[in-house]
Amino acid sequence: MGWWLKYCSLWTVMTIIVSLVQAEDPYRFFDWRVTYGNIYPLGIPQRGILINGQFPGPEIYSVTNDNLIINVHNDLDEPFLLSWNGVQLRKNSYQDGVYGTTCPIPPGKNYTYAIQVKDQIGSFFYFPSLAFHKAAGAFGGLRVLSRPRIPVPFPEPAGDFTFLIGDWYSHHDHKNLKALLDRGHRLPFPDKVLINGNGVSFSSSLTVHKGKTYRFRISNVGLQHSLNFKIVDHQMKLVEVEGTHTIQSMYSSLDIHVGQSYSVLVTMDQPEKDYSIVVATRFAAKKILVGSTLHYSNSRQSLSSASLSARGPADELDWSIKQARSIRTNLTASGPRPNPQGSYHYGLINISRTLVLESSAGLVKRKQRYAINGVSFVHSDTPLKLADYFNIRGVFKVGSIPDQPRRGGGIRLDTAVMGANHRAFIEIVFQNREKIVQSYHLDGYSFWVVGMDRGTWSHASRREYNLMDAVSRSTTQVYPESWTAVYVALDNVGMWNLRSEFWARQYLGQQLYLRVYSSVHSLRDEYLVPKNALLCGRASNMQRPIITP
Ligand SMILES: *[C@@H]1O[C@H](CO)[C@@H](O)[C@H](O)[C@H]1NC(C)=O
Ligand SMILES: *[C@@H]1O[C@H](CO)[C@@H](O)[C@H](O)[C@H]1NC(C)=O
Ligand SMILES: *[C@@H]1O[C@H](CO)[C@@H](O)[C@H](O)[C@H]1NC(C)=O
Repeated sequence: MGWWLKYCSLWTVMTIIVSLVQAEDPYRFFDWRVTYGNIYPLGIPQRGILINGQFPGPEIYSVTNDNLIINVHNDLDEPFLLSWNGVQLRKNSYQDGVYGTTCPIPPGKNYTYAIQVKDQIGSFFYFPSLAFHKAAGAFGGLRVLSRPRIPVPFPEPAGDFTFLIGDWYSHHDHKNLKALLDRGHRLPFPDKVLINGNGVSFSSSLTVHKGKTYRFRISNVGLQHSLNFKIVDHQMKLVEVEGTHTIQSMYSSLDIHVGQSYSVLVTMDQPEKDYSIVVATRFAAKKILVGSTLHYSNSRQSLSSASLSARGPADELDWSIKQARSIRTNLTASGPRPNPQGSYHYGLINISRTLVLESSAGLVKRKQRYAINGVSFVHSDTPLKLADYFNIRGVFKVGSIPDQPRRGGGIRLDTAVMGANHRAFIEIVFQNREKIVQSYHLDGYSFWVVGMDRGTWSHASRREYNLMDAVSRSTTQVYPESWTAVYVALDNVGMWNLRSEFWARQYLGQQLYLRVYSSVHSLRDEYLVPKNALLCGRASNMQRPIITP
């Protein structure tokens, strides 16, 4: 009864959504209040961003095709938005919750997201997309379970745990970090690594039973650093990567780059004592690490911080590339639908266009900026998707970023929007001439990671592509002075953010929007702007649709 009363005010919103999505798909309702509050990741108080009082935020449990109705009340003193990492939001980039698609929720106001986890399964997460809020919390896990009767390629585990890992600043709060960037500086090195909001080693533990197998869903929700995840003395069987069931290989540790999610199965097959779960920075100037306790239920031997060691491979880079290449799709396993994941033969489709995207770093007016193909992204006064919908001219220009890197010429500031045709099948090469590992994410899509190698990409590099069983995911790493190539089937109309997952880099311009366009303007391809959409900038006085089909 109370539940119903609480949500019946959402009825108006719901009726619209019901008409937009298939009515038979179930609904899940969330009422979230976003506030500042003290958090204690290192034992001392620090200002964090909480959702319903929690840090990290509550985990979303859903089943493929569920409609998630999430009413987000912003009680911060600044605008706020949440975005859904890896959730494809088919036909509905309005709900993506990034500044190019959605007006920020003003302080004291709320916005109800209506998203459908259509034809997806697996492990994802949500995060706050504006300013530098991600350095303060408001992120959480988002799992999409398979529908009953659609088999998952492994037995039901005895337990299913989420590990949100990430680098962390305890001496700077998110406003300080943003102010540093706004003044043109770089970020300092982070202070710590957290596991589920906790940075004090062995202050948290997970109890398991000998002989049982558990699923661990691990997402790197941090700001910059690649992290290595391992459970001492235990092998991990990889089963899922960002919604794709993988070939089930064993790993003793996994490199997880910013924005990536992995699922592994771990069997508790060791003598009954306590073991450490270790998360450590990779490819970083300094090694920082944190441990958590894996506690066998009959264990009498506990751990101390002295047991924390992060000895890694001698050559991190070779080791990591080799591991990345070994991660492949299980073609015969089913994904979100009963048909096998391999039934779409991506390797046989002709490429209609190749984008080569190369990052650079440099100063513009003595301030640090980052760019893709020489263009450093700056926000417009109006979300791009709304400008597009309402036909507001002068907000952005399609083609304001070239398809290929430009040599020389430095960095130019612009609201970078790249046009692309609905149903095109494109190749994107991420070329990294810098000396750091990078991580790129595309909203609205999964892409096939067909190849990665050291050096400069050329047409000849295509000979080494995996055109059979490459993994399909939404976030890929690009190793230092290396390239990564992906294929994308542009089957989702909308305005989609393509960004560096290094938070300072995306904040200072290493991102763009891919405008996947269909001249047909059919509701089969894209929904109308939501009836409850917040309006801002030059879209402030526009008329939202009153009747939605
Ligand atoms: C804000 O929340 C109220 C209920 O608390 C709801 O009726 C309203 O539709 C929400 N506003 C938006 C824009 O979603
Ligand atoms: C792939 O999935 C099938 C079907 O669930 C399973 O039987 C098989 O063991 C998996 N193969 C590998 C190599 O993981
Ligand atoms: C791809 O292009 C080749 C040569 O242009 C053509 O023969 C082939 O039919 C095309 N394949 C598909 C799937 O369109």
